Amino acid sequence: MSLVDKVKAKAEHLKPRVNECAIVVRPLPLIADEIISAGEDFYFKVVFDPTDRHLVALEPAQRLELMKGPFARGALVILAIHKPTDKAIGKMWLLSESPVSGDGKRGLLPIQLAKDEIFLFDLWVHRDFRRNAVGITMAFEMGAAVDQFFPQARWVYGYAHVDNEASMQLMSLVYGMWTVQTMKEYEIGDYHVGMVPNSDSPKFGPFSKRGRHSGDGFQMPGRPRTGEAARDYHHPEGFARRTVNDAEVSDGWMWPGPEWFDTVHPKDSDGKPARPETLPRAI
Ligand SMILES: CC(C)(COP(=O)(O)OP(=O)(O)OC[C@H]1O[C@@H](n2cnc3c(N)ncnc32)[C@H](O)[C@@H]1OP(=O)(O)O)[C@@H](O)C(=O)NCCC(=O)NCCS
Repeated sequence: MSLVDKVKAKAEHLKPRVNECAIVVRPLPLIADEIISAGEDFYFKVVFDPTDRHLVALEPAQRLELMKGPFARGALVILAIHKPTDKAIGKMWLLSESPVSGDGKRGLLPIQLAKDEIFLFDLWVHRDFRRNAVGITMAFEMGAAVDQFFPQARWVYGYAHVDNEASMQLMSLVYGMWTVQTMKEYEIGDYHVGMVPNSDSPKFGPFSKRGRHSGDGFQMPGRPRTGEAARDYHHPEGFARRTVNDAEVSDGWMWPGPEWFDTVHPKDSDGKPARPETLPRAI
């Protein structure tokens, strides 16, 4: 490739790419009689650790470096591991807290979550393993993990490009999610994402100034109250309450005990008191 072509390709890569997105939602925890399994060849992992070996083999190092801040603030990944090859072949990224300013450069859309909401934002299954119910099983593992680690969560948002048929089908027909909002996402380069200003519709939702997160609304928009899709949402008897039985939990990232941080009071490179995300640590 000539230098001119390289520069052209780079410029093309840095041009914002815009996609129409649907923001979908469903209640948590998941309903018990919906649980199905992907079979014996797979096991699942709840990963709170950006240095987890399966995650490191799956995601680019740069992305994991960028995501260390969000990990320190409660991001997690559900991984599907294919036992015969010991490889992660499916992933589902989740945020349990709203992103902070600057997180767009780390690949996080500026969703605003209420205290009882979480956000599922990167769902993927390796091509060779699709249509094996891995996508759906990851959702149940997510439900179990959230039940155990974030018991306050009552709603999970997801998002999909509206022209992504597989994802829209999975979200609506299988995960039972409904659309609460649409917005336009822009992507620049490999990781930088954001919302095209004013593209949120309607103006009450997780991508708006006002939404459940602002304390103005108790009800989730679009919640079917009658007809076939209506449910006894959040009924204490009707849901799967289970712990993460079979899934492995990978959470060895933070310091092994509080003493190290509390007694040494280390400074970060700016000379300020260090926080986990500002202090480079050798693991
Ligand atoms: C979307 C995706 C994660 C689905 O994973 P999967 O493991 O194949 O999903 P499952 O096997 O659990 O499928 C469950 C159901 O979803 C629906 N579905 C899945 N893939 C579909 C497709 N290509 N077209 C239409 N419906 C689809 C079907 O109803 C399917 O049930 P069925 O196989 O009994 O018909 C996978 O196709 C993928 O990684 N796509 C590329 C990345 C992507 O688009 N991610 C979504 C970004 S939000």
